[in-house]
Amino acid sequence: NWVPTRDDRFSFGLWTVGWQGVDVFGGAVRPPLEPAEAIEKLAELGAYGVTFHDDDVIPFGSSATEREARLAPFRKALEATGLVVPMVTTNLFSHPVFRDGGLTNNDRDVRRFALRKALDQVDLAAELGAKVFVAWGGREGAESGAAKDIKAALDRYREGFDLLGSYVLDQGYDLRFAIEPKPNEPRGDILLPTIGHALAFINELEHSELVGLNPEVGHEEMAGLNYAHGLAQALWHGKLFHIDLNGQTGPRYDQDFRFGAGNARGAFWTVDIVENGGYDGPRHFDFKPPRTEDMDGVWASAAACMRNYLVLRDKVSAFRADPEVQAALTAARVDQLAVPTVAEGETIADLRAEAFDPDEAGRRGMAFEQLDQLALEYLYGVR
Ligand code: GCO
Ligand code: MN
Ligand code: MN
Repeated sequence: NWVPTRDDRFSFGLWTVGWQGVDVFGGAVRPPLEPAEAIEKLAELGAYGVTFHDDDVIPFGSSATEREARLAPFRKALEATGLVVPMVTTNLFSHPVFRDGGLTNNDRDVRRFALRKALDQVDLAAELGAKVFVAWGGREGAESGAAKDIKAALDRYREGFDLLGSYVLDQGYDLRFAIEPKPNEPRGDILLPTIGHALAFINELEHSELVGLNPEVGHEEMAGLNYAHGLAQALWHGKLFHIDLNGQTGPRYDQDFRFGAGNARGAFWTVDIVENGGYDGPRHFDFKPPRTEDMDGVWASAAACMRNYLVLRDKVSAFRADPEVQAALTAARVDQLAVPTVAEGETIADLRAEAFDPDEAGRRGMAFEQLDQLALEYLYGVR
C-alpha cells in the first residue's frame, strides 16, 4: 500500500535530491548528483515528473555548445524513463551578479541580464513541454530601509512579468507563470512575501490571466499563516497554478523538511484541499533532505514525501466518507455557509423586517470540537 504510481503525478525539483547540503555554516556533505541519475532514481521511486532551474542542468555562463552537451543526457534520461517536465524555473539568486536581485535589482544592466536569462529558460520550457514557469524571487528584497524603493521595485517587477507574458503570447507558447511567495531568507525581507501580497500584485499585471501562484508549505508557515487556507483562497481566485509541498515547524528558518514532517496536522488539511478543492496540477515536492543524510537518506526522504502524501490522502478520504463525520459536519452547520445570506428577490426591507433573538442564537454552540476530534483521530491512526 501507499506505493506511488505515475497517475499520482508526483514531481520533484532536481535541486531537492541534488542538494549537497551547503548551508551558511558548512560546505557540501554529499557528492554532486547528475541530473540523469536523479531522473532515473526518481522514476524508479514512482515520480512522474522533474522540474529544474536553468542552472541545475546548464551551469551558469555555459556556451551554446556546452548547453547542448548538458541537455543531451538530460533529454536522453527523460526519454528513457518517460518522465515529464511539468514546470521549469530560472535561477536569479545564486550568482553574485544577483546579490541585489534580478528583475528588481537597483542596477538596470543586471535587470536586463535577468530578463534575458528568464527568456532563454522560457524557450526551453516551451521546448520541453512544461506548462508552468515558476518565479521565486528569493533575492528580490532588502535588508535595510533606504536601500530599496519598494514602489519602484514593484514597477520593475511588473514590467518584468508584462514583458515575459507578452513574449509567451507572441511566441504562442502554452505556458503560464506561477509566483512563489516567501517572507524572508535569503533576503531580510522579500517582495511579495505571502500568497495575499502576490494575488494583489497579479491584479496589476497586463497579462494577469497568465500569472498565478506556486505557494510553498514552509513559506506560508514561516509567516505564521495557514497554508491550506492560502491554497483555498488561491483556488477561489482561480490562481493555484502549481504547489511546492514540504514540511515546516512554525515561524523559523526555511526548514524544507520532507512533506508530512513538521506540521503534520497542517499536512492533513493541505492534502484535503489539494484533493478536494479543484486543484489539477502536479503534486510537486520542494524539500531539502537534511544535511545529516547520505545518498541513501536522500532517497529515503524523497520516497517518504510521496508515501506521506498517499497515507494522508487515504486518511482524508476515509474522514470525508465516515458517516459520523458527515453527521458532525451537519451538526456544525458547515453546509449552511453555502447558502447566500440574502436570497435572490429579497430586499433590504425584508432583511430589516426579520425577527431575531440574538440571546437565543448566542446560546448555540458550534460543535466544532467534536468534528475536529474526528479528524485528529484519523491523523493519530486510531480511527
Ligand atoms: C526556497 C525556494 C526555492 C524555489 C525554487 C524554485 O525557499 O529555496 O522554495 O526552492 O522553490 O528556487 O524557484
Ligand atoms: Mn523553501
Ligand atoms: Mn519552493
